[in-house]
Amino acid sequence: MSAEHRINELRQKLNYLNHMYYVESKPVVTDYEFDMLLRELQDLEALHPEFADPNSPTMRVGSDLTNKFQSVAHAYPMLSLSNTYSLEELQEWMDKTFRESDSQVSVSCELKYDGTAISLTYEDDRLVRAVTRGDGSRGDDVTENVRTIGSVPLTLQQMSGLKTFEVRGEIFMTYPTFDRLNAEREAAGEQLFANPRNAAAGTLKLQQSRIVAERNLQFTAYQVEGRDLPFASHSQSMEALRRFGFPVSTAARICESADVVKQFIEYWDAERANIPEPIDGVVIKVDSYAVRRALGRTSKAPKWAVAYKFKAEQALTRLNEVTYQVGRTGAITPVANLDPVHLAGTTVKRATLHNADQIEALDLRIGDMVYVEKGGEIIPKVTAVELSQRPADSQPLQYITHCPECGTELVRYEGEAKHYCPNQSHCRPQIVGRIEHFIRRKAMNIETLGSETVELLFDNGLINNIADLYDLRADQLAVLPRLGEKSAANIIQSIRLSAEVPFHRVLFALGIRFVGETTAKYLAEHFRSLDAIMTASHEELLEAEEVGSKIADAIIEYFADEENRSIIERLRRAGLKFEAEQKQNLSESLVGLTFVISGSFADHSRDELKALIEAHGGKNLAAVSSNTSYLLAGDKIGPAKLQKATKLGVRIISEQEFVAMIGGSQTLPAVESEPTPTQTSAPIQGTLF
Ligand code: IVH
Repeated sequence: MSAEHRINELRQKLNYLNHMYYVESKPVVTDYEFDMLLRELQDLEALHPEFADPNSPTMRVGSDLTNKFQSVAHAYPMLSLSNTYSLEELQEWMDKTFRESDSQVSVSCELKYDGTAISLTYEDDRLVRAVTRGDGSRGDDVTENVRTIGSVPLTLQQMSGLKTFEVRGEIFMTYPTFDRLNAEREAAGEQLFANPRNAAAGTLKLQQSRIVAERNLQFTAYQVEGRDLPFASHSQSMEALRRFGFPVSTAARICESADVVKQFIEYWDAERANIPEPIDGVVIKVDSYAVRRALGRTSKAPKWAVAYKFKAEQALTRLNEVTYQVGRTGAITPVANLDPVHLAGTTVKRATLHNADQIEALDLRIGDMVYVEKGGEIIPKVTAVELSQRPADSQPLQYITHCPECGTELVRYEGEAKHYCPNQSHCRPQIVGRIEHFIRRKAMNIETLGSETVELLFDNGLINNIADLYDLRADQLAVLPRLGEKSAANIIQSIRLSAEVPFHRVLFALGIRFVGETTAKYLAEHFRSLDAIMTASHEELLEAEEVGSKIADAIIEYFADEENRSIIERLRRAGLKFEAEQKQNLSESLVGLTFVISGSFADHSRDELKALIEAHGGKNLAAVSSNTSYLLAGDKIGPAKLQKATKLGVRIISEQEFVAMIGGSQTLPAVESEPTPTQTSAPIQGTLF
């Protein structure tokens, strides 16, 4: 088989597997098998740059090239929707719309996904451009980033028969992904995204598509634009999009009456708390294109559609006390302690108050009845005070001036809303918090330790900073309550293994203020070593991607600290990686050699063997040719392959011989996988499309 043929075969197969995974949510191969096919394609593409294709599935991985966004004019304006929060207004809109069109009008009721709008242009059934809404007539070309989103088809699953068309839809982030991202940012002392919408929009504008690829964005299609489209209605066009391979919400229903529309709304107003997708309302659209044309549009929005927006759920309850949390960076977060109240499916007892300014703006007082909301269904917050129920003798709240944990006077840095406890090295929650951050899976991955054990070790005087972890001995741990010899040995083992963690994760693990996972990657890539970062000037630091003045200051401040520097030296002696690696190959023993694998093997799967070949610098080929160095032959090998190899003089080796070539048996690290999002469907009236 020629390389070109195999490349095409792999692209087709990977596109299909992507579609099954992201759009149908029915994975058909393991992540490992998928990754092996992807790697084979990556290798072939690297060998044959002449067959490069921007729509190859390898582009999903993203790249480190910096994106500059071009402003692009929309061929069809991206309008917005008129909104309503009231069922009466919605009824008026439906009465008017139904009255103005003579025939029976059906409407499509759909979920209003709370993300960011995108317009995808397809030419000859291939994605050529992805543009943000922008101001409605021009948007930013974010194609490179959008290519990394698994559910956006790069090439269609079925021929459309259309020369060119645009698919519009929403790019969004699910709550689980959003929560995880924010938890990571919080732990890193990075600014949090206010809601999944901001997270999706912010991610789409990132400079490096590789990081977009990691953020697990989702796409759902809700509109088609083009000249002479062969559809008479919206529902027809959505059915076609589904056949082409686009994700189209299964919640959408064609409704024939206002009553059914209202049922749809009521159902999803309650149900939205139970689904992972962020939904802020329902969109009601006239289905027939002919009726749409007759209704027309205003300069801003079509008259044939309206958005009914859900009200943020609120509850009224009493504020009993304000307590203060100290984070690992010393940041103080005031917390409202409330009478328990039911809100959007959970009982709320505590809500965040963010900072002193917010308390002052609300003029919050102990004993007040306050409104709590789930800001986009996440951490509840106090949004207002019911002044009519304020106790007569209440007093304005005094914000604390000293750390509730260690008593140190709090400081407020310029331009920051939060108060900080500056006592980094002797304030318990800061010390414990930094160690907890250090051991996290995404950092040094010493999670066998766990938060409780960290506290136990700290309280027993065994650890006081991250470097102390590397001096721990199993016998010191084994005598502690709840531990014992076995877990002590496990802990010591995973501490030792953490020395293998790559440099960018070590940098993240240090817990430098504002240096989250992403920034750490950029810094590691730019400077390549910790020493280079430690000696970099403010100006030099700014040259790294995404590093602004605030981050540069924080880095300089961190390394200026004598105690931090001595911790760094101890970590260096413990053998942690302080330099970026060139290549993660296990060895170079197979460099320049090519392999064809055939048959089945006793100790490894074929994919494992392929991975081992690559990890030792060798290349996998699909078919025997005169370029093949070895045919790795197992049981039930195809006779044709064997014959061809013999004829061409290709050496035939067994599994044992191969294992000997790479210096004995080995295993490869497991591949991490992301869960697939769930599709929603409504068990209510209306017709499916
Ligand atoms: S239709 C001309 N359908 O809501 C109308 N929009 O507030 C085109 N949105 O910009 C939009 N889910 O980003 C439509 N099922 C859906 C939607 C949806 C979310 C967003 C879209 C639009 C915004 C308007």
